[in-house]
Amino acid sequence: MIRGRALVTGASSGIGLAFARRLAADGNDLVVVARSGGRLHELAEELKRTHRSEAEVLVADLTTPDGVAAVERRLADTSQAVDLLVNNAGFGTFGRFAELPIDKEVEEIELNVVALVRLTRAVLPGLIARRTGGVINVASIAAYQPGPWEATYCATKAFVHSFSQALHEEVKSSGVKVLSLCPGFTVTEFQDRSGADSSGVPGFVTQTADQVVDAALKAYRRGRAIRVPGGPNKVLAATARLSPQLMARKMAGAVGRRLAKI
Ligand SMILES: NC(=O)c1ccc[n+]([C@@H]2O[C@H](COP(=O)([O-])OP(=O)(O)OC[C@H]3O[C@@H](n4cnc5c(N)ncnc54)[C@H](OP(=O)(O)O)[C@@H]3O)[C@@H](O)[C@H]2O)c1
Repeated sequence: MIRGRALVTGASSGIGLAFARRLAADGNDLVVVARSGGRLHELAEELKRTHRSEAEVLVADLTTPDGVAAVERRLADTSQAVDLLVNNAGFGTFGRFAELPIDKEVEEIELNVVALVRLTRAVLPGLIARRTGGVINVASIAAYQPGPWEATYCATKAFVHSFSQALHEEVKSSGVKVLSLCPGFTVTEFQDRSGADSSGVPGFVTQTADQVVDAALKAYRRGRAIRVPGGPNKVLAATARLSPQLMARKMAGAVGRRLAKI
């Protein structure tokens, strides 16, 4: 069991909410971060009632410098140290890149990449000094190949996957863990928010947020660098990794076109 204090970004729904509930059930206190203050306060009350977990609410928009700075300050506060950072907040955009609103594409990079890098940088020195704890960065199986019709999203997740594996090697001798978590299709608010058409996604590749979190925490405890949750997703990720690049991006393009309704 992991005990201590965990900070979870994007804790108001989906995979982040499942992380917060599971970490509280395992005996941790929480710092929960998202833009939806109402949802976070309800969650904090639920965690206190059901698990006696203390959950601090930190309302922040991680696409803004002020929002990121507030979370960086919290992570750097060693008087109430955070032992596990879960960089989970993220979103995707689907469509023809040349037609997608550029401001939203940049926001996607700010959240999925820039905020994740800044928060990781803020927490690591304290973890290394204490020789404990770690970071779980939520990438995706989208990280495994370029994704036509979801070009920015796949590129952000490729960054997260590469960055996290590199840090895993850099810090492991100091007793600190870094995991790149690569979920496949997971039932959350992600699809509605991105406008992706997920009606054609077969049920056997679909996972719940709880299944993803369960696999992630097992891998984290074992000190793994990468976890792709679910057998079918492991096959998809391995196929993309081992295929010639042309074939991998053609296959991803067929899926992306459908999700983007093109
Ligand atoms: N669902 C999937 O199929 C899937 C597959 C692979 C990877 N992932 C990854 O899993 C992660 C979690 O996604 P999910 O599926 O759980 O989606 P979700 O249900 O839409 O949750 C996204 C979370 O991120 C928060 N968020 C969004 N924009 C934010 C911002 N600007 N500042 C702070 N928080 C923000 C949202 O809260 P507020 O709106 O309250 O801010 C929400 O809590 C993402 O990184 C996603 O890329 C998802």
